[in-house]
Amino acid sequence: MERDFVRISDVKVSGNQGLEVKLRGWVYRTRGSNRMLFIVLRDSSDIIQCVGSRDDLGDEVFETARALNIESSISVMGTLNEDKRAPGGYELHLKAVEPVSPAERFPITKDQSEEFLRDNRHLWLRSRKMNAILKIRSTVTGAIHEFFRMRGYYEFTPPILTPNAAEGGSTLFEVKYYDRKIYMTQTWQLYAEAAIFSLERIYDVSPTFRAEKSKTSRHLSEFWMAEMEAAWMSYRQAIEVAIEEVRFIIAKVLEKNRNELEILEADTSRLEPLLSKEWPVITYTEALRILKEKMGMDVTWGKDLRTIEEEALMENFDTPVTVLQYPKEAMAFYKPVDPEADAPGPVAKCFDMIAPEGYGEIIGGSERDTDVSAISEALEREGEKVENYDWYLDLRRYGSVQHSGYGLGVERLIAWICRLDNIKDAIPFPRTLTRVTP
Ligand code: 4AD
Ligand code: MG
Repeated sequence: MERDFVRISDVKVSGNQGLEVKLRGWVYRTRGSNRMLFIVLRDSSDIIQCVGSRDDLGDEVFETARALNIESSISVMGTLNEDKRAPGGYELHLKAVEPVSPAERFPITKDQSEEFLRDNRHLWLRSRKMNAILKIRSTVTGAIHEFFRMRGYYEFTPPILTPNAAEGGSTLFEVKYYDRKIYMTQTWQLYAEAAIFSLERIYDVSPTFRAEKSKTSRHLSEFWMAEMEAAWMSYRQAIEVAIEEVRFIIAKVLEKNRNELEILEADTSRLEPLLSKEWPVITYTEALRILKEKMGMDVTWGKDLRTIEEEALMENFDTPVTVLQYPKEAMAFYKPVDPEADAPGPVAKCFDMIAPEGYGEIIGGSERDTDVSAISEALEREGEKVENYDWYLDLRRYGSVQHSGYGLGVERLIAWICRLDNIKDAIPFPRTLTRVTP
């Protein structure tokens, strides 16, 4: 019996006129009269309109079906009827309807606030919007694995509980660990740097935690970062990999998720040209010049770019832009100075990739300092105890090599691709300053 059921998307293909099929799923919408019944049925793949008459179904089945609330689980049997007006080109003429589990009155109705929908995320996951986003999310993470594996990178999994900070103490989540205090990981980086001396080229897609104390539409407290780290690699080479990776992901989404992008009204014509266009790489110093000349914004050299400056900069571009060589002063302890850079002050061998359309920084990366005393001094400046990082400094003591890596914010990328208003919808169960439920 089980095997007889087919997926809705599989029946909505040409040439199925008159075919008898069994479908199962959930009631998405219903309407009807005393004689006719319309049920839009959904399964994971798609929706289809089912039409039944009292005459065909008989009084008892008709009345039972008519009483079903939305989100009741049901199985149906009927014949496919090609109908140009029906969404997807087919309707199902019902011969049988069987409730599996009738639903109580579903709390989500039309026109509810974003907050209500997030309070009911466990139910809202069933919406066409969330279904589409989750499918694209699956394509994105699948593409990341494929991209790196095709290029000979190994997947390397970092610890989630860690004794060290890597991206500054202010966003660390503390965890009571037996009778000590440790932290949730902010990045895999320090461990990745250890692993490249064994595997040379590695990547991961892992949960990452940051206690972001501000409410924005682009920060989560728990998010997924896709990182890579490679031995014998300069930061400029890492930039090339990053651009190739993001292009590869977009190509995969365009290949697999056109329907979903349409459901999300994410307009594929924004994405298609990205595959052939050049993606600019500019220095921080050039970015300041663009801000001044084109946007009339004066940013003092040495200051990190704030959101409004990033947004203003990106008004000049319709592809992602990689900005490199930020001032060393504002950078994390592991980013080395680039002595060859042409800039008014010391800059780091580092880069950010910024998405267009106001989606902000999607990638942060750099070369890693290999100089023990430079790292120690930078750690001290950040107020860290150098002895806590002794194992990290060991990596420079035993056969050090030039190496680089970067981290891609998976939800930031999804939010941009799907054109979401808020990053919270790029992850199934968002955690933020104000939300930990459901
Ligand atoms: O720029 P970040 O802080 O870089 C690092 O953590 C490096 N250690 C990565 C590496 O070199 N291996 O974070 C990387 C990316 C950002 O560009 C952003 O896209 C995303 O992670 N990100 C966040 N996404 C959602 N919510 C947050 N709170 C985020 N913080 C960073
Ligand atoms: Mg960053």
